[in-house]
Amino acid sequence: MLKSEVIKSLLGQKNINGSLLASRLGVSRNAVWKVIQELRSEGFEISSKPNRGYSLESHPDIISAELIDAYIKLQPWNLLVFDSLDSTNNEAKRLADGGLKDRSVLLSDEQTGGKGRLGRSFVSKKGLGLYMSVFLRPSAAAGELTPVTSLAAIAVKRALLKTAGVTAGIKWPNDIILNGKKLCGILTELSVEGESGSVQYLVIGIGVNVGYGSEDFPQEIRHMCTSLKLENAPAGRAELAAAILDELSKIYNEGRFSFDHEIYLSEYIRDCITIGRDVKISGTDSLTGRAVGLDEDFGLVVELENGKRITVQSGEVSVRGLYGYAD
Ligand code: BTN
Repeated sequence: MLKSEVIKSLLGQKNINGSLLASRLGVSRNAVWKVIQELRSEGFEISSKPNRGYSLESHPDIISAELIDAYIKLQPWNLLVFDSLDSTNNEAKRLADGGLKDRSVLLSDEQTGGKGRLGRSFVSKKGLGLYMSVFLRPSAAAGELTPVTSLAAIAVKRALLKTAGVTAGIKWPNDIILNGKKLCGILTELSVEGESGSVQYLVIGIGVNVGYGSEDFPQEIRHMCTSLKLENAPAGRAELAAAILDELSKIYNEGRFSFDHEIYLSEYIRDCITIGRDVKISGTDSLTGRAVGLDEDFGLVVELENGKRITVQSGEVSVRGLYGYAD
């Protein structure tokens, strides 16, 4: 806790006096000095000049609970950090039965079996991405949570603007796109109690490509993937994670999602690159048409070639001209 408080103070102020810092945090000067030494040994560059105090010049791009916590501005989260996991979503589900609490977040430096939507895999190399799962225990019926995956996309998009300065688009329902390529994927999983239909827990898995070079992606998906590094928009993973969590805090409180529906729906429509484009809906019969809008639950409204309108709530919708869909 002290470590996180020291980092928070250093992030907020340059030339911070050691004695002042110690008294502000209610500890001895020596305790502060020890934390500074520990941070330096972890790669934090902290200068200290006589009469001018400490200044944080830079810190390494690590995933650490203390660093993320220091960047968080709104409510705290229960942060669980791992070096390596098969999948943060899978680990969250394993811990769920043991009583993992609401507002927990699992982060891993790498995933050996990262999962994408529709049974696909998600490339999760060590140190190159932000791989996190937000674990919630909302008091809600499953049907009430339809918009969550779209809300998560908005949270990530806003956090990317704040930390990396990029204006990303959303490919319905929740791929985050930059310059026509995928920057982030989101996989939401739900556990519902059979009899009552009430939600036991919700896992929102978020994967952002941060430090990938194009050669880090497998050849077969290289043409459709990008990263913050490739877009010359660097952002620290801890800062990005904290910004996403702050955005989620704005819409999730004490077991309930509450948000201004109009604002979020119009923001999603504004930034959704699928709307107004020709699309192919994959399923038992593959349908083609034009995406024309969203319904109240963030479902995609598609006008088919025969003029009939249908609403798609989930599944795979390819956008003509994106990710190699050309026919
Ligand atoms: C997709 O692109 O289809 C969704 C990708 C979701 C990836 C994230 S990374 C953290 C979490 N753990 C996983 O195994 N998947 C999600």
